Amino acid sequence: MRAEFLVQFFIKMKRTEIKSLLSTAPEEQTVTVMGWVRNFRSNRFIILNDGSTINDLQVVVDFENFDENLLHQIKTGSSIKATGKLVASQGSGQAVELICEELHLFGAADASEYKLQPKQHSLEFLREQAHFRMRTKTFGAVFRIRHAIAYAIHKYYNDRGYYYLHAPIITGSDAEGAGEMFHVTTFEPNEAPLNEDGSINYKEDFFGKATNLTVSGQLQAEAGALALGKVYTFGPTFRAENSNTTRHLAEFWMIEPEVAFFDITDNMDLAEDFVKYLINYVLDNYPDDLAVLDQRIQQLEKNMKTEDRRPMGLIETLRFVVDNEFERITYTEAINILRNSKPYKKGKFQYDVEWGKDLQSEHERYLVEKKFSKPVIVVDYPKDIKAFYMRLNEDGKTVAAMDVLFPGIGEVIGGSQREERLENLLARMEEMDIPEEELWWYLELRKFGSVPHAGFGLGFERMVLFITGMGNIRDVIPFPRTPKSAEF
Ligand code: 4AD
Ligand code: MG
Repeated sequence: MRAEFLVQFFIKMKRTEIKSLLSTAPEEQTVTVMGWVRNFRSNRFIILNDGSTINDLQVVVDFENFDENLLHQIKTGSSIKATGKLVASQGSGQAVELICEELHLFGAADASEYKLQPKQHSLEFLREQAHFRMRTKTFGAVFRIRHAIAYAIHKYYNDRGYYYLHAPIITGSDAEGAGEMFHVTTFEPNEAPLNEDGSINYKEDFFGKATNLTVSGQLQAEAGALALGKVYTFGPTFRAENSNTTRHLAEFWMIEPEVAFFDITDNMDLAEDFVKYLINYVLDNYPDDLAVLDQRIQQLEKNMKTEDRRPMGLIETLRFVVDNEFERITYTEAINILRNSKPYKKGKFQYDVEWGKDLQSEHERYLVEKKFSKPVIVVDYPKDIKAFYMRLNEDGKTVAAMDVLFPGIGEVIGGSQREERLENLLARMEEMDIPEEELWWYLELRKFGSVPHAGFGLGFERMVLFITGMGNIRDVIPFPRTPKSAEF
């Protein structure tokens, strides 16, 4: 009894991850692996994956040695434990394989109902199977890389003396002034108490005031920067904008560094160094996952016309971005370039190009993909198209705002030097009808120990989108929230 218990215990303890087995010298040592069956080929080769790596382990089973009933249940998607000897592989494609001696089925996966079969599924189909799609090679790679980028973000800032600040998720203010917020209330829709004028009386609500999910942690990060010097936030943000595009989510993650004594140039330098670091980190540490994503794109583009294909492969693109300096231009220069461009002259742009109007994604993509063929930072936008907190430039017309634009994606970063002068800030808020009472604490940061400071927000999913080469932002977050969609 006791001996049996010990044996069981030993086997449990000895689970080895496939990632480490694949780089272990095969000496016929006994090992145990656990994972999900990708495929069971010729009733002899189980292709097993446990998520530790994109690569699979081949488990060889001799039909005679196992219960037929058991083997019949081993199908794509079922979960097993296999114990056996690790040997050099006879076949090509892998260095080692496992000669199975003991097999245990954790959970079957009925092939008539399990939707993920060993063939190419469309990404649209897999979005409806989001609870299983992480088991595919493509999504396994995407989510390992998503993790890697998150880790690299913390490492980057920690190594440089920044402090991770947790901004609140429920707030009373609209940091971006865009009004695209989800309300947070405990009132039932039809039973909210009303004021005499018929409006909802939020004084009786849970927080005693109207609240919403945050669109950005910036305002709180500014308070942090004006005490701790260098901070960054990294949390979920929410926007109720009805943008059904491949670049927008209703719930996405944002990284917002905020630095005291920084001006707009320091801010641009930080942004460029930061995103290059993230790309380098993934290039250095996740070559196998990147290679599979790269091949996937080449496969997809095989039958496309040359002009529809991406100009470079994925890894090539990433190397190109880290090896070249980003182009830096002012908004005014951007407008001039666009108005002199072929598509503008031929009337190919859908939206007008005029000083004072915001750049649309077709304009951003022209600058990045056609004009400069590399990331572009645009600075000094007209004040009227930007948020109230951005610092007014000497011309009185533009603010020290910056957007970082990437090929294939457009804006990945938006940031600015902040208006640290109380008078200017008050004037801007009045112009934009932002009530002072709501932001009394933000204004006090300008009354007591105000200093020049700057920061930006990196859209986490847009960065993951760029590094993985995926085409739709819904495919780089585990369970996407978009208009009319909050399944899972
Ligand atoms: O440009 P945004 O709106 O800037 C801010 O929120 C500032 N408070 C940041 C700051 O200065 N601290 O958003 C920043 C980035 C965008 O550049 C984009 O990458 C991403 O957040 N983003 C979205 N990503 C996915 N879905 C959406 N709906 C997004 N909206 C913005
Ligand atoms: Mg922006």
